[in-house]
Amino acid sequence: MPQITPDTTIADVVERWPDAARIFAAYGLSCASCSISKGETIAQAVGGHGRGRLEIDTVMRQLNELAATGKLPADLPERPPAPSGGPKGVAQQAGVKHVIAVMSGKGGVGKSLVAGLLAVGLSRRGMKVGVLDGDITGPSIPRMFGVREKPGVVHGTQTLAPPRSRTGIPIMSMNLILPSEEEAVIWRGPMVSGAIRQFFSDVAWGELDFLIVDLPPGTSDAPLTVMQALPVDGVVLVTTPQALATMVVTKAVRLVKQLGGDILGVVENMSYVTAPDGSRLEVFGPSQGLKLVIASNAPLLAKMPIDPRIAELADNGGIEGYDAPEFDELITNFLAVAPAAPAEPVGAGHGHSH
Ligand SMILES: Nc1ncnc2c1ncn2[C@@H]1O[C@H](COP(=O)(O)OP(=O)(O)O)[C@@H](O)[C@H]1O
Ligand SMILES: [Mg+2]
Repeated sequence: MPQITPDTTIADVVERWPDAARIFAAYGLSCASCSISKGETIAQAVGGHGRGRLEIDTVMRQLNELAATGKLPADLPERPPAPSGGPKGVAQQAGVKHVIAVMSGKGGVGKSLVAGLLAVGLSRRGMKVGVLDGDITGPSIPRMFGVREKPGVVHGTQTLAPPRSRTGIPIMSMNLILPSEEEAVIWRGPMVSGAIRQFFSDVAWGELDFLIVDLPPGTSDAPLTVMQALPVDGVVLVTTPQALATMVVTKAVRLVKQLGGDILGVVENMSYVTAPDGSRLEVFGPSQGLKLVIASNAPLLAKMPIDPRIAELADNGGIEGYDAPEFDELITNFLAVAPAAPAEPVGAGHGHSH
């Protein structure tokens, strides 16, 4: 007797087996549809917006294989191509190789900082990087890079030219366009995701190895709409070592999985302060590093200290001048888990013989 039947709701399946979201996504049932119509059964969903009724037997077999073995079936089809054009589809941008989203449970944990540092560190290592600020709740990204210029228009086109930081990193942010910070408050939901989608596809990013996206804080609608608007390859999760951090991580992991995405790694920010005598003070409580790894099933990329220089540089447009061993470690560890950028030499062990 199979554990999952065509009358089981998608929400129930994904709740018990989060990886089932990948199976649904493979058939074009992006799990946005499950959070919208929670009660929908598999039969209704496959008949309604899947590729056709014929495939329900395959879907059922694959779901039950997952339920029985805990593993995704080997014959899972590739995800269907992202719908292009239309206001609701995933935006397209030929020059951008990989989109990396930075997410956090709540605000103020250093999400924007980590997004900025990833861009700076990758760029220092010779990769082409851009930053898309998808968090309109504050001007952190432009402030951190000291960018105030409004985007221009590429001559003779309808494409926007992103302003560039001191070291040449292109940056797009709603905060560069809105006349005031108060204005951002009235921008909600669909307007924001529409704008973000345009920031992705109608901006002259050029050739980028990585586009780093600073998502809105939280694990609800705001980050979700941005994630859905862009072809995100992987998510970096930022937390602090406070008691509830791991619960937030569990929630974030579920959200990312529902969208068929990957958590590449976790960053514990504000992990400790280094005292003048060199000892480490864990001001926000003991590190949750190990728990984070277990909750996210992803590696800990770095434990970033509370460093007064960070606050100083981030507030004054000087983030590109930051240097610290932990920062270096973050980039090294990120590159170990990131989707391979062609700018990186292919490892000798990969056996690419011609
Ligand atoms: N490790 C750190 N050491 C010192 N200050 C930090 C650190 N991480 C973040 N900050 C500061 O804390 C504030 C919040 O960080 P931010 O990246 O804007 O958080 P979020 O994007 O999650 O809301 C900023 O003023 C930032 O400069
Ligand atoms: Mg921020």
